[in-house]
Amino acid sequence: MKGWLVVNSFLHTKKFEEIYSFLGRAAAKRGITLDIVRSADILCAVGDDFSLFSKPDFVLFWDKDIALAKRLETAGLRLFNSASAVEICDNKALTAIALSGKVKTPKTIIAPKTFEGVGYCDKNFISAAASVLGFPFVIKEAYGSFGAQVYLAGNLASAEQTVDKIGYKDFIMQEFVSSSAGRDVRVNVVGDRAVCAMLRYNENDFRSNITNGGKMKNIELPAEFASAAVAACKAIGLDFAGVDVMFGVGGEPVVCEVNSNPHFKSSLECTGVDLSEYIMEHISEKLL
Ligand SMILES: Nc1ncnc2c1ncn2[C@@H]1O[C@H](COP(=O)(O)OP(=O)(O)O)[C@@H](O)[C@H]1O
Ligand SMILES: [Mg+2]
Repeated sequence: MKGWLVVNSFLHTKKFEEIYSFLGRAAAKRGITLDIVRSADILCAVGDDFSLFSKPDFVLFWDKDIALAKRLETAGLRLFNSASAVEICDNKALTAIALSGKVKTPKTIIAPKTFEGVGYCDKNFISAAASVLGFPFVIKEAYGSFGAQVYLAGNLASAEQTVDKIGYKDFIMQEFVSSSAGRDVRVNVVGDRAVCAMLRYNENDFRSNITNGGKMKNIELPAEFASAAVAACKAIGLDFAGVDVMFGVGGEPVVCEVNSNPHFKSSLECTGVDLSEYIMEHISEKLL
């Protein structure tokens, strides 16, 4: 069996390269040839079915290039994760919509859309959102990762300042789950199973991301956290994902966000569980 590991042509960090090598190694163990294919290396016109290239049996899609993912699916290829699942996870507004009514999530208000050169010139909607969410509330750019585009607004002036900084990009406003401040659980799901989890915590920041200075601890995952993470993946149609689950007031799981291309190296270091093994096993089972 042969697969393409489709990756972004322009991101060349050690962090990403390591993930690719873990996946390649796990594939090789199962007799699967997994070729790294950079997005610019399979350039062809819309309507072409990639037969210029030697087509694989499946694609492990580790990019966020939704147009490319959709074209690969149109060409008949099975993508792990699917174009639609990657698209929903990449955009926190779409994630909130997909999870609504399926799992418990923080109350979320999606900012109305604006345009480059126009910006959020009328900010009345921010105080309207604040009256629903209360202060402080969380502002998140729709596209972001590693906690870098997530902000806490303590009052209206700070919320407006954050929105000015965001410029014209899409964002959401979210109830601050204070019972989970600075901590959450990263649950890694493959298929319909939570395969490992770690507690992430930060005493100096409300964001628990490891890249942002958070610490990690291997924990026994409460069953209701596992079910919430699996239900979130099911709602989005994911084959695998890293789900961030917060602690509600009574300690109940509140799903924060879902990552379709999880950086699982920290999880590996913390739990000893190599997600790439589970991912490749899942792919081979699905394709049998
Ligand atoms: N509504 C919220 N209430 C409390 N903490 C939050 C909330 N949303 C996010 N956080 C904290 O911020 C971190 C980053 O937010 P997240 O939505 O996961 O964005 P990113 O994609 O950047 O990781 C979370 O892991 C969590 O610790
Ligand atoms: Mg996160």
